Formats: sequence, C-alpha cells, structure tokens
Amino acid sequence: MNQRILQVDDDPMMLVYVGRILRTAGYEVVTATKGSEALERLESLHPDLVLLDVLMPDLDGYEVCRRIRRQPAFARLPILMLTGHNTLTERIKGFEAGADNYLSKPVNPEELQVLVKVLLQRQQMTLIAPKELARTIAVFSLRGGVGVSSVAVNLSAGLALLWNERVALVDLALANGQAALMLDVPPRNTWADLAHVPTEEIDAAMIDLVMQNHSSGVRVLAAPSRLELNELITGAKVSQVLNLLKATYCYLVLDLPHDFNEPSLAGLDSADQIILVVAPELASVRAASSALKVFASLNYPDERIKLCLNWTFERNGLARKEIESSLGQAFDIILPFAPDHFINAINTGVPPVISMAKGPLGALFEDVAFMFSREEQRSQRPENPSAAWQRLAQRARAARRNTLANAT
Ligand SMILES: Nc1ncnc2c1ncn2[C@@H]1O[C@H](COP(=O)(O)OP(=O)(O)O)[C@@H](O)[C@H]1O
Ligand SMILES: [Mg+2]
Repeated sequence: MNQRILQVDDDPMMLVYVGRILRTAGYEVVTATKGSEALERLESLHPDLVLLDVLMPDLDGYEVCRRIRRQPAFARLPILMLTGHNTLTERIKGFEAGADNYLSKPVNPEELQVLVKVLLQRQQMTLIAPKELARTIAVFSLRGGVGVSSVAVNLSAGLALLWNERVALVDLALANGQAALMLDVPPRNTWADLAHVPTEEIDAAMIDLVMQNHSSGVRVLAAPSRLELNELITGAKVSQVLNLLKATYCYLVLDLPHDFNEPSLAGLDSADQIILVVAPELASVRAASSALKVFASLNYPDERIKLCLNWTFERNGLARKEIESSLGQAFDIILPFAPDHFINAINTGVPPVISMAKGPLGALFEDVAFMFSREEQRSQRPENPSAAWQRLAQRARAARRNTLANAT
C-alpha cells in the first residue's frame, strides 16, 4: 500500500512540481492550499507524512506545525518543512515548532526523496519499538448477555475522554459483535477487510485505514458483517493486528466473544488487564468460575484479572458476598441495574459515559476508566485536564471532605 503524503502549499506551481516528484517516487500525494485546510483535513486524510510550506497567507507553516503537534494523535507524525531560505533562524524556528526536518527552496528532487524516505522509515521503526506499548484491557465472559460489550464501549470512550489519548476499541466478537453499533459508527470497514490479506502483509498503515473514528476519539475496529470470512481471521492474524495497534495507541480495549476461540485467546494473551464480567445468576457465576480456572492454567497472574458484577436484572439476583466467596475473589467494579440507560444507549448509539456524563452512571464509568488508566497518567495532573478529569478530581475532593467531616 502506498504511503500518503499531505503536501501543504499555497503555490500551485509547487503543488504540481513537488507533487510530481513524490508521485514518481511511488507516494500517494494529497494536497491542501491553506494551513487551516490542512488542519481540518488531517484527521480524515491520515497522512503518513506532512510536507509543509513555511510561507503561506493565512497560517504560516510554523503555526500549522505547532497546531499539528498539539494533537496527541499526531504528536509523532513526520513533518518536513519547506523553507524559503536556508538560514539558521528559519531552521531553528522550524525545529522549535516541532518539525522533524527541513528542506530549502529551490527543491532538489533527490534530496526531497531521500529525506521523505528516511523520515518514513524512522517513523516505521518507532512504531514497532516496544518502548511505550498501549495498555490493553480485555473484557470477557464465557456467558453472553452479561454486559461485556457495554463495559468495553463505555471504558474505551471513558479513557479517550479522560486523557485525550489514542484509544482503540477492537471488536473480537467476530460472529456478531456490536461495538460499532453501540457507538453509532458506520462499519464501512471492518475485520473483513483484513480477512483476505496474508498475516505477514498486514501493517500499521493498513489497519489504520480499516479503523473507524468515533467523536470521543476512540477508533473502532469493527466486527465483520459477513460470517463466512471469519475463519480467515486466525489467532495469528489477530495477534499481529493487536501487536501493531499496541505500538501506535495509548490504550486498547478488547470486546471479546463468549468462548475461548482463537481470536479470543489471542486477545486475552495480549491483555495487561482482563475484566471478567459476571451477572448475579448461577449460569454466569459458573461460567466465571470456569474462565478463572482456564486463566490459572494459562498462568495469568491474579492481578491481571478484575471482576465486574453487572446487575443486568432487577430482582432475585444472587447475593454479592455469595458470588465472591464462590469465585474466591472480590468484585472490583459493581454496575447497577439501569435498563433504560443501557437500552437507550444501544438504540441511540451513545454510551452512558457520554450521554450521562454528569450523572451517576457516567461518573461510575469515568471512575472505571480511571481505575484502568496507566500509572503515569493516574499519578499526576494532566497538562490540559479534560472535562472528565475535572469531574473526577472534584468527586475525589468531595470524598475527602466527607471522610474528614465524618472523622471529626
Ligand atoms: N447494568 C445493566 N442494567 C440493565 N441492562 C443492562 C446492563 N448492562 C447491560 N445491559 C443490557 O444487557 C444486554 C446485553 O449487554 P451486552 O453489553 O451486549 O452484553 P454481552 O456483550 O455480554 O453480550 C444489552 O441489551 C444491554 O443493554
Ligand atoms: Mg457483546
């Protein structure tokens, strides 16, 4: 697949001349004639590299560069500046704005091609460098209908809204996963697009094209709508995709199917945390108990597994203590029975963590998202705290005040 370069220049001559050099070298070139246009289209165009002219009428190249860098998703996008003069001041200004390299006019075709190639290669290398892998949270139950997808969807949106970071929601319930529906993202592309691609040919750029954007910032890898492709999506393929996603996202949330099939095991194996969802009825508790036995035989450490009690029905549920003692583990998350909110969520495609952001159910999911956040994010105030983070901090302050008041 050709790598895509976004060329931003107000000069039509340069668009034609430089564009032709890049196309000859095998790149796909998309263009913007104004800085503001480039910023607007960045998300939808998903370029692999931006070639940015410095002198432009509305926003100059430095300003565009700074604004691109301010978006976490593009903090590491390769940016090559095209400066009018090769002066030290210009170069320093470019680097300070966040450019990776610069090229001065008149453009030398060979130099342009080499710089672009090196920047793209370096980017590919940092993508697979295992330094900062996404924190991966798998949501699972051997019994269906207990709220696995509901938890996965709310958790992923919660994480994205809390940290403004790159979050991927991966639907591994390939047979009939509804994660995309639950976020109302049209599943234009799905796992089906990766079904026929040999595993070793799948790369980060390809996966990127298949993922769908949600307004919360979550990107969704949706379940296929055609069942017959599923056997092409092997465990090895799922592992490959998850590894590539791990290298490019801050968080991965996996919505798993209700069995131990290949995709499911690949997901569980790659997870840093597993949320095992349990409804307060015997069949679900039995299923949870079997799942815990399998986890033990796979040598998953106990800390990896968190239990979630979901009150999917109102009356006659088993007592919490009873379930905890039968599973030998306490619940970490307890979700209340909230039929209206959850049904509404599915029908409108807006999960409670968004629609009820200021209500108790939204607060609960924000707390859950915080609970599963990376340690380095939990331990300090973000530079630009999100609305969700501010609500969380306010609740924490109120809780402290309460404890103090009760103590005196
Ligand atoms: N706490 C809850 N209260 C009421 N209904 C719920 C609750 N959690 C989930 N549901 C509903 O239960 C059904 C199954 O949820 P879903 O998340 O699709 O489960 P799974 O992925 O485990 O099959 C959905 O209709 C959902 O709206
Ligand atoms: Mg589901």
